[in-house]
Amino acid sequence: MTTLLAWIEARIPMMRTANVHAIQYPAPRNMNFWYVFGFLATIILVNQIITGIWLTMNYEPSAQRAFASVEYIMREVNYGWLIRYMHSTGATAFFVVIYLHMFRGMIYGSYQKPRELLWVFGMLIYLALMAEAFMGYVLPWGQMSYWGAQVIVSLFSAIPVIGGPLVEWIQGDYVISGATLNRFFALHVIALPLVIVILVFLHIIALHEVGSNNPDGVDVKHPKGSLPESEKTSYKIHEHFTNRYDYADDVVPFFPHIVLKDLVAFSIFLFIFCYIMFFAPELGGKALEHPNFEIANPLKTPEHIFPVWYFTPFYAILQAVPHKLSGVLTMFGAIAVLFVLPWLDRANVRSWRYRSGLHTANLLVFAAVFIFLGYLGGTPQEPWKLIAARIATIMYFMFFVMLFLYSKHETTKPVPKRIPR
Ligand code: HEM
Repeated sequence: MTTLLAWIEARIPMMRTANVHAIQYPAPRNMNFWYVFGFLATIILVNQIITGIWLTMNYEPSAQRAFASVEYIMREVNYGWLIRYMHSTGATAFFVVIYLHMFRGMIYGSYQKPRELLWVFGMLIYLALMAEAFMGYVLPWGQMSYWGAQVIVSLFSAIPVIGGPLVEWIQGDYVISGATLNRFFALHVIALPLVIVILVFLHIIALHEVGSNNPDGVDVKHPKGSLPESEKTSYKIHEHFTNRYDYADDVVPFFPHIVLKDLVAFSIFLFIFCYIMFFAPELGGKALEHPNFEIANPLKTPEHIFPVWYFTPFYAILQAVPHKLSGVLTMFGAIAVLFVLPWLDRANVRSWRYRSGLHTANLLVFAAVFIFLGYLGGTPQEPWKLIAARIATIMYFMFFVMLFLYSKHETTKPVPKRIPR
Protein backbone atom coordinates (compact mmCIF):
# COMPACT_ATOMS: atom_id res chain seq x y z
CA MET A 1 0.00 0.00 0.00
CA THR A 2 2.79 2.40 0.99
CA THR A 3 4.67 1.55 -2.20
CA LEU A 4 1.55 2.17 -4.26
CA LEU A 5 0.98 5.55 -2.54
CA ALA A 6 4.60 6.54 -3.07
CA TRP A 7 4.33 5.51 -6.72
CA ILE A 8 1.23 7.70 -7.16
CA GLU A 9 2.76 10.58 -5.17
CA ALA A 10 5.83 10.59 -7.45
CA ARG A 11 3.51 11.13 -10.42
CA ILE A 12 0.75 13.32 -9.02
CA PRO A 13 1.12 15.24 -5.73
CA MET A 14 -2.00 13.90 -4.04
CA MET A 15 -0.85 13.83 -0.41
CA ARG A 16 1.09 17.06 -0.82
CA THR A 17 -2.04 18.84 -2.08
CA ALA A 18 -4.16 17.34 0.71
CA ASN A 19 -1.58 18.48 3.29
CA VAL A 20 -1.14 21.97 1.89
CA HIS A 21 -4.79 22.73 1.28
CA ALA A 22 -6.47 20.82 4.07
CA ILE A 23 -4.68 18.62 6.62
CA GLN A 24 -1.76 20.87 7.62
CA TYR A 25 -3.09 24.21 6.45
CA PRO A 26 -2.18 26.68 9.25
CA ALA A 27 -5.51 28.10 10.44
CA PRO A 28 -5.68 30.87 13.06
CA ARG A 29 -6.75 29.24 16.30
CA ASN A 30 -9.31 31.93 17.19
CA MET A 31 -11.59 31.22 14.20
CA ASN A 32 -15.14 31.53 15.53
CA PHE A 33 -18.59 30.56 14.21
CA TRP A 34 -18.39 33.23 11.49
CA TYR A 35 -15.72 31.08 9.88
CA VAL A 36 -17.96 28.08 9.19
CA PHE A 37 -19.88 29.62 6.31
CA GLY A 38 -17.21 29.05 3.66
CA PHE A 39 -17.29 25.35 4.47
CA LEU A 40 -21.09 25.32 4.48
CA ALA A 41 -21.17 27.15 1.12
CA THR A 42 -18.91 24.44 -0.32
CA ILE A 43 -21.22 21.69 0.98
CA ILE A 44 -24.26 23.44 -0.49
CA LEU A 45 -22.50 23.86 -3.83
CA VAL A 46 -21.92 20.10 -3.94
CA ASN A 47 -25.56 19.49 -2.95
CA GLN A 48 -26.79 21.78 -5.74
CA ILE A 49 -24.65 20.06 -8.36
CA ILE A 50 -25.63 16.52 -7.35
CA THR A 51 -29.37 17.17 -6.93
CA GLY A 52 -29.28 19.27 -10.12
CA ILE A 53 -27.88 16.35 -12.12
CA TRP A 54 -30.66 14.10 -10.80
CA LEU A 55 -33.37 16.68 -11.54
CA THR A 56 -32.05 17.02 -15.10
CA MET A 57 -32.70 13.30 -15.63
CA ASN A 58 -36.45 13.92 -15.62
CA TYR A 59 -36.86 17.63 -16.32
CA GLU A 60 -37.83 18.67 -19.88
CA PRO A 61 -36.72 22.15 -20.99
CA SER A 62 -39.58 23.11 -23.29
CA ALA A 63 -42.43 25.56 -22.85
CA GLN A 64 -44.89 22.69 -23.42
CA ARG A 65 -43.37 20.19 -21.00
CA ALA A 66 -41.35 22.07 -18.36
CA PHE A 67 -44.17 22.71 -15.85
CA ALA A 68 -45.62 19.21 -16.26
CA SER A 69 -42.19 17.57 -15.97
CA VAL A 70 -41.63 19.30 -12.61
CA GLU A 71 -45.03 17.98 -11.43
CA TYR A 72 -43.98 14.56 -12.72
CA ILE A 73 -40.77 14.76 -10.68
CA MET A 74 -42.80 15.74 -7.59
CA ARG A 75 -45.44 13.01 -7.90
CA GLU A 76 -44.13 10.10 -9.96
CA VAL A 77 -40.34 9.94 -9.82
CA ASN A 78 -39.06 7.93 -6.85
CA TYR A 79 -37.97 10.47 -4.21
CA GLY A 80 -38.29 13.17 -6.89
CA TRP A 81 -39.96 15.45 -4.32
CA LEU A 82 -36.98 15.02 -2.01
CA ILE A 83 -34.45 15.81 -4.72
CA ARG A 84 -36.38 18.87 -5.85
CA TYR A 85 -36.79 20.20 -2.30
CA MET A 86 -33.12 19.55 -1.55
CA HIS A 87 -32.32 21.69 -4.60
CA SER A 88 -34.82 24.50 -3.92
CA THR A 89 -34.07 24.65 -0.17
CA GLY A 90 -30.39 24.50 -1.11
CA ALA A 91 -30.78 27.65 -3.21
CA THR A 92 -32.24 29.57 -0.27
CA ALA A 93 -29.64 28.16 2.14
CA PHE A 94 -26.90 29.13 -0.32
CA PHE A 95 -27.82 32.79 -0.17
CA VAL A 96 -28.32 32.85 3.63
CA VAL A 97 -24.87 31.33 4.03
CA ILE A 98 -23.25 33.57 1.41
CA TYR A 99 -24.68 36.77 2.91
CA LEU A 100 -23.34 35.75 6.34
CA HIS A 101 -20.01 34.78 4.75
CA MET A 102 -19.75 38.21 3.09
CA PHE A 103 -20.76 40.05 6.25
CA ARG A 104 -18.05 38.18 8.17
CA GLY A 105 -15.56 39.47 5.60
CA MET A 106 -16.82 42.98 6.26
CA ILE A 107 -16.71 42.92 10.06
CA TYR A 108 -13.24 41.40 10.25
CA GLY A 109 -11.83 43.39 7.32
CA SER A 110 -10.96 40.20 5.43
CA TYR A 111 -11.07 42.11 2.14
CA GLN A 112 -8.18 44.39 3.15
CA LYS A 113 -4.60 43.96 1.96
CA PRO A 114 -3.40 41.29 1.11
CA ARG A 115 -6.83 39.69 0.49
CA GLU A 116 -8.25 42.11 -2.10
CA LEU A 117 -8.19 39.59 -4.95
CA LEU A 118 -9.75 36.92 -2.72
CA TRP A 119 -12.64 39.35 -2.14
CA VAL A 120 -12.93 40.15 -5.87
CA PHE A 121 -13.10 36.42 -6.67
CA GLY A 122 -15.80 36.17 -4.00
CA MET A 123 -17.77 38.98 -5.66
CA LEU A 124 -17.46 37.26 -9.05
CA ILE A 125 -18.84 34.10 -7.44
CA TYR A 126 -21.69 36.16 -6.01
CA LEU A 127 -22.53 37.58 -9.47
CA ALA A 128 -22.41 34.14 -11.08
CA LEU A 129 -24.54 32.76 -8.25
CA MET A 130 -27.19 35.42 -8.82
CA ALA A 131 -27.31 34.64 -12.55
CA GLU A 132 -27.47 30.92 -11.75
CA ALA A 133 -30.34 31.35 -9.28
CA PHE A 134 -32.26 33.66 -11.60
CA MET A 135 -32.11 31.21 -14.51
CA GLY A 136 -32.93 28.26 -12.26
CA TYR A 137 -36.09 30.01 -11.13
CA VAL A 138 -37.28 30.30 -14.74
CA LEU A 139 -37.04 26.54 -15.34
CA PRO A 140 -40.28 25.35 -13.59
CA TRP A 141 -42.09 27.65 -16.05
CA GLY A 142 -44.65 28.86 -13.53
CA GLN A 143 -46.22 32.31 -13.52
CA MET A 144 -43.46 33.85 -11.38
CA SER A 145 -40.78 32.16 -13.51
CA TYR A 146 -42.22 33.74 -16.60
CA TRP A 147 -43.02 37.20 -15.29
CA GLY A 148 -39.89 37.41 -13.15
CA ALA A 149 -37.83 36.69 -16.28
CA GLN A 150 -39.88 39.26 -18.16
CA VAL A 151 -39.10 42.00 -15.60
CA ILE A 152 -35.39 41.21 -15.31
CA VAL A 153 -34.69 40.72 -19.02
CA SER A 154 -36.61 43.89 -19.95
CA LEU A 155 -34.23 45.86 -17.69
CA PHE A 156 -31.69 45.62 -20.49
CA SER A 157 -34.05 47.50 -22.81
CA ALA A 158 -33.22 50.63 -20.79
CA ILE A 159 -29.75 50.69 -22.35
CA PRO A 160 -29.74 53.38 -25.07
CA VAL A 161 -29.48 52.30 -28.74
CA ILE A 162 -28.61 48.62 -28.25
CA GLY A 163 -31.24 47.94 -25.52
CA GLY A 164 -34.00 46.58 -27.79
CA PRO A 165 -31.85 44.28 -29.94
CA LEU A 166 -29.97 43.13 -26.82
CA VAL A 167 -33.22 41.99 -25.17
CA GLU A 168 -34.18 40.04 -28.31
CA TRP A 169 -30.73 38.49 -28.40
CA ILE A 170 -30.99 37.40 -24.75
CA GLN A 171 -34.51 36.04 -25.22
CA GLY A 172 -33.79 34.38 -28.57
CA ASP A 173 -37.26 35.58 -29.55
CA TYR A 174 -39.43 38.71 -29.51
CA VAL A 175 -40.89 37.64 -26.14
CA ILE A 176 -39.85 35.29 -23.34
CA SER A 177 -40.58 31.90 -24.89
CA GLY A 178 -39.50 28.27 -25.15
CA ALA A 179 -36.32 29.45 -26.88
CA THR A 180 -35.46 31.55 -23.81
CA LEU A 181 -36.24 28.63 -21.50
CA ASN A 182 -33.95 26.39 -23.53
CA ARG A 183 -30.94 28.66 -23.37
CA PHE A 184 -31.48 29.42 -19.68
CA PHE A 185 -31.50 25.67 -19.12
CA ALA A 186 -28.17 25.28 -20.94
CA LEU A 187 -26.63 28.12 -18.94
CA HIS A 188 -28.10 26.89 -15.64
CA VAL A 189 -27.01 23.26 -15.89
CA ILE A 190 -23.60 23.54 -17.44
CA ALA A 191 -22.12 26.98 -18.23
CA LEU A 192 -22.65 28.76 -14.91
CA PRO A 193 -21.96 25.79 -12.61
CA LEU A 194 -18.66 25.37 -14.45
CA VAL A 195 -17.83 29.04 -13.97
CA ILE A 196 -18.79 28.88 -10.28
CA VAL A 197 -16.70 25.77 -9.62
CA ILE A 198 -13.65 27.32 -11.34
CA LEU A 199 -14.13 30.58 -9.39
CA VAL A 200 -14.46 28.72 -6.07
CA PHE A 201 -11.24 26.88 -6.90
CA LEU A 202 -9.45 30.19 -7.56
CA HIS A 203 -11.02 31.64 -4.38
CA ILE A 204 -9.52 28.86 -2.26
CA ILE A 205 -6.12 29.05 -4.01
CA ALA A 206 -6.05 32.81 -3.40
CA LEU A 207 -7.04 32.28 0.26
CA HIS A 208 -4.34 29.68 0.83
CA GLU A 209 -1.72 31.86 -0.79
CA VAL A 210 -2.27 34.81 1.55
CA GLY A 211 -3.59 32.84 4.54
CA SER A 212 -6.84 33.19 6.49
CA ASN A 213 -7.68 36.34 8.36
CA ASN A 214 -9.21 35.94 11.84
CA PRO A 215 -11.61 37.69 14.26
CA ASP A 216 -8.77 39.82 15.69
CA GLY A 217 -7.38 40.67 12.26
CA VAL A 218 -3.91 39.75 13.57
CA ASP A 219 -1.24 38.66 11.07
CA VAL A 220 -0.30 35.08 11.86
CA LYS A 221 2.54 34.84 9.32
CA HIS A 222 5.87 36.32 10.33
CA PRO A 223 8.74 37.07 7.97
CA LYS A 224 11.10 34.10 7.73
CA GLY A 225 13.72 34.20 10.49
CA SER A 226 11.93 36.83 12.57
CA LEU A 227 10.69 34.43 15.27
CA PRO A 228 13.16 32.83 17.69
CA GLU A 229 13.09 29.00 17.62
CA SER A 230 11.48 28.93 21.11
CA GLU A 231 8.48 30.90 19.92
CA LYS A 232 7.71 28.88 16.85
CA THR A 233 4.63 26.68 16.69
CA SER A 234 4.87 23.23 18.16
CA TYR A 235 2.33 21.97 15.62
CA LYS A 236 3.38 20.27 12.42
CA ILE A 237 2.84 22.68 9.54
CA HIS A 238 3.63 21.79 5.94
CA GLU A 239 6.98 23.00 4.65
CA HIS A 240 5.15 24.74 1.79
CA PHE A 241 4.21 27.33 4.43
CA THR A 242 7.14 27.14 6.83
CA ASN A 243 9.70 27.50 4.03
CA ARG A 244 8.40 30.99 3.42
CA TYR A 245 7.16 32.22 6.79
CA ASP A 246 7.48 31.62 10.52
CA TYR A 247 4.41 30.70 12.52
CA ALA A 248 3.86 31.03 16.26
CA ASP A 249 1.23 29.06 18.20
CA ASP A 250 -1.40 31.44 16.82
CA VAL A 251 -2.15 28.78 14.23
CA VAL A 252 -3.38 25.21 14.43
CA PRO A 253 -3.46 22.59 11.65
CA PHE A 254 -6.75 22.58 9.79
CA PHE A 255 -7.20 18.89 10.63
CA PRO A 256 -8.52 18.04 13.17
CA HIS A 257 -9.08 21.41 14.84
CA ILE A 258 -11.05 23.37 12.24
CA VAL A 259 -12.58 20.28 10.65
CA LEU A 260 -14.22 19.44 14.00
CA LYS A 261 -15.59 22.97 14.40
CA ASP A 262 -16.94 22.81 10.85
CA LEU A 263 -18.59 19.45 11.53
CA VAL A 264 -20.42 20.85 14.57
CA ALA A 265 -21.68 23.70 12.40
CA PHE A 266 -22.63 21.25 9.68
CA SER A 267 -24.78 19.15 12.04
CA ILE A 268 -26.63 22.24 13.30
CA PHE A 269 -27.06 23.39 9.71
CA LEU A 270 -28.40 19.97 8.72
CA PHE A 271 -31.09 20.14 11.45
CA ILE A 272 -32.31 23.53 10.22
CA PHE A 273 -32.03 22.53 6.57
CA CYS A 274 -33.98 19.28 7.06
CA TYR A 275 -36.63 21.02 9.14
CA ILE A 276 -37.29 23.51 6.34
CA MET A 277 -37.03 20.90 3.60
CA PHE A 278 -39.48 18.47 5.23
CA PHE A 279 -41.90 20.81 6.99
CA ALA A 280 -41.83 24.18 5.20
CA PRO A 281 -40.20 23.79 1.78
CA GLU A 282 -42.09 26.78 0.37
CA LEU A 283 -41.05 28.94 3.35
CA GLY A 284 -44.45 30.65 3.36
CA GLY A 285 -44.09 31.56 -0.32
CA LYS A 286 -40.59 33.01 0.11
CA ALA A 287 -38.59 30.11 -1.30
CA LEU A 288 -41.22 28.82 -3.74
CA GLU A 289 -43.69 31.59 -4.50
CA HIS A 290 -47.41 30.79 -4.67
CA PRO A 291 -48.01 32.04 -8.26
CA ASN A 292 -45.36 29.57 -9.39
CA PHE A 293 -47.74 26.69 -8.78
CA GLU A 294 -49.68 27.96 -11.79
CA ILE A 295 -48.33 27.34 -15.30
CA ALA A 296 -46.77 30.32 -17.13
CA ASN A 297 -49.41 32.35 -18.94
CA PRO A 298 -48.14 35.19 -21.15
CA LEU A 299 -51.67 36.66 -21.22
CA LYS A 300 -52.16 36.92 -17.46
CA THR A 301 -49.87 39.14 -15.37
CA PRO A 302 -49.76 38.16 -11.65
CA GLU A 303 -51.07 40.83 -9.29
CA HIS A 304 -47.66 41.41 -7.70
CA ILE A 305 -44.34 40.43 -9.26
CA PHE A 306 -41.42 39.99 -6.88
CA PRO A 307 -38.10 38.32 -7.36
CA VAL A 308 -37.12 35.62 -4.83
CA TRP A 309 -36.10 37.02 -1.40
CA TYR A 310 -32.36 37.08 -2.03
CA PHE A 311 -32.76 39.59 -4.86
CA THR A 312 -35.31 41.85 -3.17
CA PRO A 313 -32.83 44.38 -1.66
CA PHE A 314 -31.61 45.20 -5.17
CA TYR A 315 -35.14 45.14 -6.56
CA ALA A 316 -36.14 47.77 -3.97
CA ILE A 317 -33.22 49.94 -5.12
CA LEU A 318 -34.38 49.55 -8.73
CA GLN A 319 -37.91 50.58 -7.82
CA ALA A 320 -36.76 53.51 -5.71
CA VAL A 321 -35.45 55.38 -8.74
CA PRO A 322 -38.21 56.79 -10.99
CA HIS A 323 -36.19 56.88 -14.23
CA LYS A 324 -35.71 53.38 -15.73
CA LEU A 325 -32.11 53.67 -16.94
CA SER A 326 -31.03 55.47 -13.76
CA GLY A 327 -32.78 52.77 -11.71
CA VAL A 328 -30.93 50.01 -13.55
CA LEU A 329 -27.61 51.84 -13.17
CA THR A 330 -28.22 52.45 -9.45
CA MET A 331 -29.09 48.80 -8.95
CA PHE A 332 -25.97 47.55 -10.73
CA GLY A 333 -24.00 50.28 -8.95
CA ALA A 334 -25.15 48.83 -5.61
CA ILE A 335 -23.46 45.55 -6.54
CA ALA A 336 -20.45 47.13 -8.30
CA VAL A 337 -19.54 49.23 -5.27
CA LEU A 338 -19.01 46.03 -3.26
CA PHE A 339 -16.26 45.03 -5.70
CA VAL A 340 -14.19 48.08 -4.81
CA LEU A 341 -14.73 47.80 -1.05
CA PRO A 342 -11.06 46.86 -0.45
CA TRP A 343 -10.01 50.21 -1.91
CA LEU A 344 -12.72 52.28 -0.25
CA ASP A 345 -11.67 51.16 3.21
CA ARG A 346 -8.38 52.94 3.86
CA ALA A 347 -7.89 51.82 7.48
CA ASN A 348 -4.79 49.96 8.66
CA VAL A 349 -6.75 47.96 11.21
CA ARG A 350 -8.89 45.07 9.98
CA SER A 351 -11.24 43.75 12.62
CA TRP A 352 -14.13 45.77 14.03
CA ARG A 353 -12.92 44.64 17.46
CA TYR A 354 -10.16 47.26 17.24
CA ARG A 355 -11.87 49.88 15.10
CA SER A 356 -13.92 52.91 16.08
CA GLY A 357 -17.48 52.92 17.39
CA LEU A 358 -18.41 54.85 14.25
CA HIS A 359 -17.24 51.95 12.09
CA THR A 360 -19.22 49.41 14.13
CA ALA A 361 -22.32 51.60 13.90
CA ASN A 362 -21.79 52.08 10.15
CA LEU A 363 -21.58 48.29 9.62
CA LEU A 364 -24.65 47.53 11.74
CA VAL A 365 -26.72 50.25 10.06
CA PHE A 366 -25.63 48.91 6.66
CA ALA A 367 -26.79 45.38 7.58
CA ALA A 368 -30.13 46.71 8.89
CA VAL A 369 -30.64 48.84 5.76
CA PHE A 370 -29.93 45.84 3.52
CA ILE A 371 -32.51 43.72 5.37
CA PHE A 372 -35.03 46.58 5.30
CA LEU A 373 -34.52 47.02 1.54
CA GLY A 374 -35.13 43.28 1.20
CA TYR A 375 -38.44 43.69 3.02
CA LEU A 376 -39.44 46.66 0.84
CA GLY A 377 -38.56 44.88 -2.41
CA GLY A 378 -40.42 41.71 -1.43
CA THR A 379 -43.80 43.11 -0.35
CA PRO A 380 -46.56 44.88 -2.35
CA GLN A 381 -45.83 48.52 -3.13
CA GLU A 382 -47.37 51.31 -1.01
CA PRO A 383 -46.70 55.07 -1.15
CA TRP A 384 -44.75 55.12 2.16
CA LYS A 385 -42.58 52.27 0.95
CA LEU A 386 -41.43 54.27 -2.04
CA ILE A 387 -40.19 57.07 0.24
CA ALA A 388 -38.64 54.51 2.60
CA ALA A 389 -36.90 52.75 -0.31
CA ARG A 390 -35.40 56.04 -1.48
CA ILE A 391 -34.08 56.87 1.99
CA ALA A 392 -32.75 53.31 2.42
CA THR A 393 -31.05 53.45 -1.02
CA ILE A 394 -29.25 56.65 -0.05
CA MET A 395 -28.26 55.07 3.28
CA TYR A 396 -26.95 51.99 1.45
CA PHE A 397 -24.54 54.11 -0.60
CA MET A 398 -23.74 56.33 2.40
CA PHE A 399 -22.11 53.33 4.07
CA PHE A 400 -19.41 53.33 1.39
CA VAL A 401 -19.04 57.12 1.23
CA MET A 402 -18.66 57.37 5.01
CA LEU A 403 -16.25 54.44 5.15
CA PHE A 404 -14.07 56.10 2.54
CA LEU A 405 -14.09 59.38 4.45
CA TYR A 406 -13.49 58.26 8.03
CA SER A 407 -11.30 55.19 7.48
CA LYS A 408 -8.15 57.17 6.67
CA HIS A 409 -8.01 59.02 9.99
CA GLU A 410 -9.99 56.65 12.18
CA THR A 411 -9.12 56.36 15.86
CA THR A 412 -8.45 52.68 16.36
CA LYS A 413 -7.40 50.59 19.34
CA PRO A 414 -3.91 49.02 19.38
CA VAL A 415 -3.96 45.62 17.66
CA PRO A 416 -2.12 42.92 19.65
CA LYS A 417 0.94 41.34 18.02
CA ARG A 418 -0.35 37.83 18.73
CA ILE A 419 -3.87 36.42 19.01
CA PRO A 420 -4.97 37.22 22.59
CA ARG A 421 -5.18 34.18 24.91
C1 HEM B 1 -19.90 29.45 -3.66
C2 HEM B 1 -19.57 30.46 -2.91
C3 HEM B 1 -18.39 30.50 -1.98
C4 HEM B 1 -17.68 29.47 -1.44
C5 HEM B 1 -17.89 27.96 -1.64
C6 HEM B 1 -16.66 30.04 -0.59
C7 HEM B 1 -15.74 29.31 0.12
C8 HEM B 1 -14.86 29.85 1.04
C9 HEM B 1 -14.10 29.08 1.98
C10 HEM B 1 -14.13 27.54 2.13
C11 HEM B 1 -13.37 29.95 2.72
C12 HEM B 1 -12.45 29.59 3.91
C13 HEM B 1 -13.30 29.34 5.14
C14 HEM B 1 -13.97 30.59 5.66
O1 HEM B 1 -13.28 31.58 5.90
O2 HEM B 1 -15.22 30.57 5.82
C15 HEM B 1 -13.64 31.28 2.24
C16 HEM B 1 -13.06 32.45 2.71
C17 HEM B 1 -13.37 33.72 2.27
N1 HEM B 1 -14.37 34.06 1.39
FE1 HEM B 1 -15.54 32.76 0.36
N2 HEM B 1 -16.76 31.42 -0.64
C18 HEM B 1 -17.81 31.75 -1.46
C19 HEM B 1 -18.26 33.01 -1.76
C20 HEM B 1 -17.69 34.19 -1.29
C21 HEM B 1 -18.19 35.52 -1.54
C22 HEM B 1 -19.46 35.82 -2.35
C23 HEM B 1 -17.36 36.40 -0.92
C24 HEM B 1 -17.38 37.92 -0.86
C25 HEM B 1 -17.70 38.69 -1.81
C26 HEM B 1 -16.32 35.64 -0.26
C27 HEM B 1 -15.26 36.17 0.47
C28 HEM B 1 -14.37 35.44 1.24
C29 HEM B 1 -13.31 36.01 2.06
C30 HEM B 1 -12.96 37.51 2.18
C31 HEM B 1 -12.68 34.94 2.69
C32 HEM B 1 -11.50 35.02 3.69
C33 HEM B 1 -12.05 35.24 5.04
C34 HEM B 1 -11.02 35.33 6.13
O3 HEM B 1 -9.97 34.70 6.03
O4 HEM B 1 -11.32 36.04 7.12
N3 HEM B 1 -16.56 34.31 -0.50
N4 HEM B 1 -14.56 31.19 1.22
